Amino acid sequence: MTSFPEAAADVAAGGDPRAAAAGVVAAMTPEERQWCLDGDVPFGAGLADLATGGYHKRPFPAARVDRVGVPGFAFSDGPRGVVIGPATCFPVSMARGATWDVDLEERIGDAIGKELRAVGADLYGGVCVNVLRHPAWGRAQETYGEDPFHVGEMGAALTRGVQRHAMACVKHFACNSMENARFKVDVAVDEVALHEVFLPHFRRIVDEGAAVVMSAYNSVNGEWCGQNRALLTDVLRDEWGFDGFVISDWIFGLRDAGPSLSAGLDVEMPYRMVRAQRLGEALASGEATADDVDAAATRIVATLLRFADVLVAPRPGADVLACPEHRALAREVAARSAVLLRNEPVDARPVLPLDSAGLRKVAVVGRLAAVRNLGDGGSSDVWAPDVVTVLEGLREALPAADVVHHDGSDVDAAAATAAEADVAIVVVGYTRADEGEFIGTEGTAHLTDLMPGADDEDLAERFAAWVAAQQPDPEPPADIADVSEVGFATGGDRTSLRLHPEHEALIASVAAANPRTIVAVVAGSAVVMPWAGQVPAVLQSWYSGMEGGRGLADVLVGDVDASGRLPFTVPVDEADLPAFDRDADAVVYDRWHGWWKLERDGRAAAYPFGFGLSYTAFQLTSAAAEVGDELVVRASVRNAGSRRGSEVVQVYGGHENAAGTGRPARRLLAFARVEVEPGAEEAVELSIPIERLAVRDPERHAWRVEPGTYVLDVARHAADAAAHRVTVEVKPPAG
Ligand code: BGC
Repeated sequence: MTSFPEAAADVAAGGDPRAAAAGVVAAMTPEERQWCLDGDVPFGAGLADLATGGYHKRPFPAARVDRVGVPGFAFSDGPRGVVIGPATCFPVSMARGATWDVDLEERIGDAIGKELRAVGADLYGGVCVNVLRHPAWGRAQETYGEDPFHVGEMGAALTRGVQRHAMACVKHFACNSMENARFKVDVAVDEVALHEVFLPHFRRIVDEGAAVVMSAYNSVNGEWCGQNRALLTDVLRDEWGFDGFVISDWIFGLRDAGPSLSAGLDVEMPYRMVRAQRLGEALASGEATADDVDAAATRIVATLLRFADVLVAPRPGADVLACPEHRALAREVAARSAVLLRNEPVDARPVLPLDSAGLRKVAVVGRLAAVRNLGDGGSSDVWAPDVVTVLEGLREALPAADVVHHDGSDVDAAAATAAEADVAIVVVGYTRADEGEFIGTEGTAHLTDLMPGADDEDLAERFAAWVAAQQPDPEPPADIADVSEVGFATGGDRTSLRLHPEHEALIASVAAANPRTIVAVVAGSAVVMPWAGQVPAVLQSWYSGMEGGRGLADVLVGDVDASGRLPFTVPVDEADLPAFDRDADAVVYDRWHGWWKLERDGRAAAYPFGFGLSYTAFQLTSAAAEVGDELVVRASVRNAGSRRGSEVVQVYGGHENAAGTGRPARRLLAFARVEVEPGAEEAVELSIPIERLAVRDPERHAWRVEPGTYVLDVARHAADAAAHRVTVEVKPPAG
């Protein structure tokens, strides 16, 4: 018999994990092999635990087989941090997407990986990378943006960081970018749109080595994602070579025991549910086979073996949770994620950064300036031990000024407060009541069919003992009630891309009272801002984490350059976007959303993808490209202003005939962040593997790089009129 520790020693000495895993699985009984294929907790006991506050209190365990030493895994969610314990709450992923800074994201992943292991988990469920097809998506904040290349690079960076300490799970595979209808909607998508728009980021992260993939709730092309062979086996394993394992999304993510297994879904999460009840019948009827069981068990054990060295490393102590170093990182990210959309002069000087020394009185307006507002209240909710609000951050940053607050509930009184101040900062936007994860009854009623019967008593007792043995976890902080009076089931998809009418009225009234009015919009994605011209300065702010108030203040007072860049398009009008019906039963996902849809339709954005102002003045002074083994783009960035700042160089490009093939004329091909000293010029080099130019050939189910002329725009955002245009010739492949 081969035990897991023996197999791990073999792998550490250079053995093949798959072969070593096969040895361990061969030593297991048929029952033990099947035991690996769902969560370790009985359904009823697990559900009762959730309902009585266990969610976000302890990880979800699965696939543990003590007799042969298989440690199994313990899952915990993200993405804005670790959801168990008083962990660091980072800005949401969309905010991090606005940094366009892969090194920073990797550092966040590293911090999260450490905290994850400190709370007893080892599988991080926070690499959420469904592209933002429409900004109304309730979980927009959990992903990085609308562009698959940008999303893939950011998700790969998070994965790299996390996987220094644990395993990462990328989710939700695939085409999961509507919330309210997620349990019922079927997404029809053709091969080209699927592979060029909705999957490239998943592939990027699989190539990065992600250990685990989570399937989605929705169905794609008529088959539930939890039993979708085309996705889970044909694409993920056979085409991409994914060698980790696949888990289902929670409770309603797996419909049929046999078909899910034969299609390639390895572990039903989080409890013993459909499979515990029905896999036996499915095996007896031939819907799935013993070979399918062995293959799935082998994939799980092989992955655990591959990660054995990090998983056996000593766990950091609880003192790593929200430690000063991680809080400092959260602040750094919060500052770097704020996107300055507008900064007009008042009396010949841009309103931002604030002239701190000259400020006597500052009016901070809006309820959201003074509450804990960290975003979604569902699976991504992080219980940070405390939160620095915008009001607190500004008071700390402006000790000599009188920083007063009005909650904005009475617009006239708020305007009167603003009128007396040197500057007014209005904080408006959303909370978890407006957008976030949604578990409604709508569309879920039929899911009761999936519910298993009563628990096995012995297992339920073992679970109770396990819960009792877990480390005590502190209660959520008291002030969480500020905006969490609404529970998990609210949020969902937004009904409008506009601010609430009372927030728009508040802006108008404060702007009329004080010409120096700055608006910070808190949201998980795009907000249509027809009122922007009424005020000199607008920032896209976010659910910015536990240090969000300090981070925003760092930018407002100019200690940190305004350096965020939009990870999505802000349209002038919602009609410029694809249609969005949050209750749809069926929807077609085509190739057109985001910046390339506006470009095709000749619609100018209010604020384009990749756009953001800086406090200094950047120019792209030159650009050139050449093709060798790779496509190499070189550019120079000059900082013509008087302060240090950072710019994101973006390369958009495509085959000169791309539009003629029904494709966008250009795609984002590369980006790089660069810091430039005042008066200096920095050279930037971006390498683009030739395969990145490939298009999907639906006949051959394969990728093809079209030879010919490629037109590249080296730009500061997607609609940059000052972009440098260069062309390169790509030759047909040799032979
Ligand atoms: C969400 C997943 C999450 C899981 C566990 C599901 O409802 O869709 O993203 O990881 O719950 O909390």
